[in-house]
Amino acid sequence: MYNVKAYSAASATSRLASTKIVRRDPTETDVQIEILFCGICHSDLHQVRNQWSDFMPTVYPCVPGHEIVGRVIKTGSAVSKFKLGDLVGVGCLVDSDGDCPACKAGLEQFCPNATFTYNLLDKHLGGVTYGGYSESIVVDQRFVLRVPANLDLAGAAPLLCAGITTYSPMRHWGVTKGKKVGVVGLGGLGHMGVKFAHALGAHTVVFTTSSNKKEDALRLGADEVVLSRDANEMQKHAGSFDFILDAVAAEHDINAYINLLGIDGNITLVGAPDKPLGVSAFGLIMRRRSFSGSCIGGIAETQEMLDFCGEHNITSDVEVIPIQKVNDAYERMVKSDVKYRFSIDMASLKSE
Ligand SMILES: NC(=O)c1ccc[n+]([C@@H]2O[C@H](COP(=O)([O-])OP(=O)(O)OC[C@H]3O[C@@H](n4cnc5c(N)ncnc54)[C@H](OP(=O)(O)O)[C@@H]3O)[C@@H](O)[C@H]2O)c1
Ligand SMILES: [Zn+2]
Ligand SMILES: [Zn+2]
Repeated sequence: MYNVKAYSAASATSRLASTKIVRRDPTETDVQIEILFCGICHSDLHQVRNQWSDFMPTVYPCVPGHEIVGRVIKTGSAVSKFKLGDLVGVGCLVDSDGDCPACKAGLEQFCPNATFTYNLLDKHLGGVTYGGYSESIVVDQRFVLRVPANLDLAGAAPLLCAGITTYSPMRHWGVTKGKKVGVVGLGGLGHMGVKFAHALGAHTVVFTTSSNKKEDALRLGADEVVLSRDANEMQKHAGSFDFILDAVAAEHDINAYINLLGIDGNITLVGAPDKPLGVSAFGLIMRRRSFSGSCIGGIAETQEMLDFCGEHNITSDVEVIPIQKVNDAYERMVKSDVKYRFSIDMASLKSE
């Protein structure tokens, strides 16, 4: 075991602060990674503040971070996929049983024995797993991804969660040329959704509550932008969408978007507000519409997404910050004031 510097929260109301945590020595199938950048996902904030207490209560101290890119600094004797110096990524998953139906289908995120990168039982050390707001991490090679060499690393980090969470449902629901696709909420997930929908050839419409994001939405690849609080603008799109991705982090009226779907249209929720959403039966039954959810993506699909980003030169639009600014970044995220993802330069942790 060895000690590393990290940032953790001591309680739901504490600010994140400098600390030290323990990592395991790499086993024979493990990869030890020096973390270079870590994105800030809204899920980090939900978890740190225990906003999902009914579903996934937070164990303190909590070290969040699951949008990790870094460099391989050590490999176990049986590691074949990676060598020293490789640029790699780690997302929300660090382990699964490998032989249940979900794992066999490449859907490790739904494995009953999956280990998430933070706040889940650590099978090696006991206690809970600690995430990427830290100097280094040790992960089994099955859960380590290759980062294409042409991608900017600060902008690549958010692909490990925001990227796969938006790419996976778009592939599942057949987003392609000729489809009309909506993306609700232009935040970390939403702006990646716009980039993917555009790259997949769909007619892409952004729904935002922030009028100052209109020009950015067009620059990111949207064909149209709708201010979702303007009922007239919303009405113009009634019954016309094939697919809508809802990436809103707070309570909102989902029915307003269900009504925009055409026959057999689907709306997929990836945003994870803590309170239930009320769904009108008639909105769904009238055009055989469906409402579903989606959770990150499996390991093979995450690699596919990274390779797709390498080919199309897609990264997240990031504001790079030192870790000392992480609490300010959380406050700005609550106000929807992020353009469009914070990426922590982990070199800043060295001075702690
Ligand atoms: N399913 C999964 O696997 C998965 C993975 C990662 C994250 N998530 C969840 O997805 C959600 C979004 O994460 P994120 O990191 O993209 O968050 P984010 O960067 O904070 O973006 C959320 C966006 O939602 C919109 N919004 C915020 N408050 C709103 C409100 N009261 N009403 C309507 N719109 C509002 C804002 O966009 P506008 O300014 O454009 O309106 C905001 O930028 C979070 O709940 C997160 O936990 C789920
Ligand atoms: Zn996330
Ligand atoms: Zn499994």
